[in-house]
Amino acid sequence: MKSTDNFPKYANEKRLLHGGDYNPDQWLKYPNILEDDIRFMKQVNANTFSVGIFAWAALEPREGEFTFGWLDKIMDSIASIGGNAILATPSAARPAWLSQKYPEVTRTSHRREKMMHGGRHNHCFSSPVYREKVGIINHKLAERYKDHPALFMWHISNEYSGECHCALCQANFRAWLEGKYGTIDALNDAYWAAFWAHLYNDFGQVESPSDIGEGWIHGLNLDWKRFTTYMTIDFYKHEIAPIREITPDVAITNNFMGDFNAPSVFTGLDYAPFAKEIDVISWDAYPPWHNDYEPTAHTASKLAFMNDYFRTLKDAPFLILESTPSQVNWQPVNRAKRPGMHALSTVASLAHGADVIMYFQWRKSRGSTEKLHGAVVDHDNSPENRVFKDVEDVGQLLVNVSEIRHSRTISQVAVMFDTENLWAFDNAEGFSRNSKKYQQTVHAHYKAFWDANISVDVITPDKCADLSRYKIVVIPMQYMMTEKMMGELQAYVKNGGTLVATYITGLVNESDLMYLGGFPQKLQELFGIAVTETDTLYPSQRNGILYEGKQYEAFDYCAVLDLCGAEVLGTYTSDFYANGAAITKHTYGKGTAYFIGARTGADFLAKIYRDYLVESLNITQPPIQAPPGVSVQARIKEGKTYYFIINYTEEKQTLTLPYDMRDLITGKIIGAGRHPLPEYGVLILTE
Ligand code: GLA
Ligand code: ZN
Repeated sequence: MKSTDNFPKYANEKRLLHGGDYNPDQWLKYPNILEDDIRFMKQVNANTFSVGIFAWAALEPREGEFTFGWLDKIMDSIASIGGNAILATPSAARPAWLSQKYPEVTRTSHRREKMMHGGRHNHCFSSPVYREKVGIINHKLAERYKDHPALFMWHISNEYSGECHCALCQANFRAWLEGKYGTIDALNDAYWAAFWAHLYNDFGQVESPSDIGEGWIHGLNLDWKRFTTYMTIDFYKHEIAPIREITPDVAITNNFMGDFNAPSVFTGLDYAPFAKEIDVISWDAYPPWHNDYEPTAHTASKLAFMNDYFRTLKDAPFLILESTPSQVNWQPVNRAKRPGMHALSTVASLAHGADVIMYFQWRKSRGSTEKLHGAVVDHDNSPENRVFKDVEDVGQLLVNVSEIRHSRTISQVAVMFDTENLWAFDNAEGFSRNSKKYQQTVHAHYKAFWDANISVDVITPDKCADLSRYKIVVIPMQYMMTEKMMGELQAYVKNGGTLVATYITGLVNESDLMYLGGFPQKLQELFGIAVTETDTLYPSQRNGILYEGKQYEAFDYCAVLDLCGAEVLGTYTSDFYANGAAITKHTYGKGTAYFIGARTGADFLAKIYRDYLVESLNITQPPIQAPPGVSVQARIKEGKTYYFIINYTEEKQTLTLPYDMRDLITGKIIGAGRHPLPEYGVLILTE
């Protein structure tokens, strides 16, 4: 894996990039549009465009017949304004001739239904024909544009997702299982297959999980999800092979996704192993601003959480490859951005490590499903409307603050989000089906720090090998935990780290088999406790935790703890475990391990993290005082700190600055002391 320094164009780009998905292939019969586009691009300081994403039918209208002329023109126009092209491979949607001639390329559902041609992303990752055709077009694109001055980066396919259950994929799945387990006996053991007569005689009997077939073997369900990730990455590697060979100096990206409902990143794939194959991370951010179910700051904390996850994947700035300048078309209700929200939304991602702000899409489609999706250029083709002007303002803002490009984020706190753990835990039948809430729980722990303007890295299990840079590591609800991770956590604490874990930790191993012999020995040593039971409460039921003389609500889950060395910080107030330990602290080596036995509200998390751990461990907080709802985040470059201040409330707020600072957005000096910040106001301050 190369660092971004190996990609000179990316590393040497001094501008913050601004632009969007550009789909002129939809407008080939409207020649005047291109001229308007170029004029508008200059007007909003747009400098970067993703091109060719779904353009296969325009690039190869009939098998073997290639039409690059229109794309040549687009690439030349982008170059003519000093712009960058993020050139896409077109594999995310394919021409009808391909499905017609080679039916194997369409997907098969888990119900073993063969899909027809249509939509997008509807292709089999195993299909040799599909791979061959993708290989040809990718090779041609790389050959044709390798020396083009506009070529800045590669965008591979689009938002990889989905799975295929065809015969080719079954064969690959079986081969993958054989590679993993060696013998069918080992697979049977890992799957606890003696249960309900699920024993297999050979790998040929294994089928991918389905509602109409096998869905009850948890180890199999988990392996299928892992295989789907593996297969997607394998397909991606096939896609990039000619590109890497022909343009080794051009960075490769692939747009990942977020999920604001969860809230978490998209979990159909595990992005942690995928990230290792990608040069620069990008993702598509569509926060549902102005909704009727949560305050703006809450939506912002979800966006921050995802941005922090994507930044931490490679510990580097990333791209917002898609966002909307106004509304989307796929929410239940698609609100317009209120005045100020577009700038706020932009700075919200810059604050957490984005160096690139791009839109889906540049020009609104005239027909089909996305004709009502927000875009920079609307059907009126006018630079006079509110959305266009907001984009123009953001374009200017990005020019003004460009010195932040390549600045880094330094976090002393890490919170774990593990997609594999989610897969296993969601599949576990037990506890409460509707209150498992792994994603919400991780976010709640994260938010306790975010609310206090403390920078957080959202880590994945592969980071456990070296956690020494963090003063606090929080691992909420790590239901599935390998012995390896237990050892790594032990090492982290032994060397002086502070670890926090919660109820429902360390129940199963990587095969989703329960640990035998009670709470795992390594965790007993680490936390100085043994979890003997986990009580699951009905949604309206409550227990309480008495902590530092105050009572906090405990709900959903209460772990009953036996002490083996830990000190009790908090106790339960009722039920058969009343007065028993709920919150514990254990000194282990040079560090400390805390255990939070029950699910609590934000008040308790704020108390234990902010009033206690952040204070006692001297975690760095920005010197700027801001009221609730106003966020302050920092990025650092060459010894200089940039503070991103955002008012996520619908009211005027007041900040207090410790000394005079310069606002990069306006260039003005803001004096020490109190300073008003309007509704949705933003500042980027430096000393
Ligand atoms: C995704 C896709 C885009 C577009 C947008 C709409 O992010 O990548 O092609 O469909 O959604 O919001
Ligand atoms: Zn398939």
